[in-house]
Amino acid sequence: MSQESTKQVTFVVQRYNPEQDSHPGLQEFSVPFSHGMTVLDGLIYIKENLDSTLAFRTSCRMGICGACGVLVNNYPHLACHTQVEEFHASTLTVKPLPNHPHIKDLVVDLTLMFQNHKAVKPYAIHRQAQEVESPTAEYAQSPQELKDFLQFAYCIKCGICVAACPTSASDKLFLGPQALGQCFRYCADNRDEGQQQRLAAVDKDHGIWHCHLAGACSESCPKGVDPAFAIQLLKRRLAAEAIGLGKKQQPPKLVSPPKETKPKVAVPPFNVQTK
Ligand code: FES
Repeated sequence: MSQESTKQVTFVVQRYNPEQDSHPGLQEFSVPFSHGMTVLDGLIYIKENLDSTLAFRTSCRMGICGACGVLVNNYPHLACHTQVEEFHASTLTVKPLPNHPHIKDLVVDLTLMFQNHKAVKPYAIHRQAQEVESPTAEYAQSPQELKDFLQFAYCIKCGICVAACPTSASDKLFLGPQALGQCFRYCADNRDEGQQQRLAAVDKDHGIWHCHLAGACSESCPKGVDPAFAIQLLKRRLAAEAIGLGKKQQPPKLVSPPKETKPKVAVPPFNVQTK
């Protein structure tokens, strides 16, 4: 960030230290503005120059790790993926994501979300355990079969969809759009044989039928994932199963691994010249 910037933007940041404070409060910081500056840049500036006790999470700074979800002007965003200029305002209010337990300042506890994620078995399940342990072939997947679940695989588990979900706000035990979206992602994968186990995990109290299709999860997802659509497709699968019209899951297609071939053009030897 340019230290010579004269334009300032005011960050109104929610502060809360459970060891000292009985309830959260707001604190204002004046931060020099520069073109291209993200909300995360502003928070880092505050921590490095104004108040080193400010707590927030960050890691990759490129919209991949999902660590930096915060509420900016009352809407959930990835701080590293959101430019200050987007708001056309001289004041930004930054608060922790709602619908997750609050730990400190802008840090929330995502444990429950990850427990829900784990409950839907977010991995490919195979009936032949032996084939998993010592595979004899590769699982074939056509471009269309990949397309069936690809957009749902872009989830970075930032918790923003849960923060935006009105059902998660009113039902703390609701599985939530993140877990339900990932449930569909694996059920739709042609290499998987675990749909029955996953459907049983979501067809219960506080499960899939508590989704009221507000669509806020899909609207807020910073990666363009559409959990609301995944949930509707999952509901359709459950309804089809209930009336005996569910599709029988076919075993995944196995193909022999490609034979090793020599490159058509010989790779030149790589030598490091030392003088
Ligand atoms: Fe990794 Fe923002 S720091 S997504």
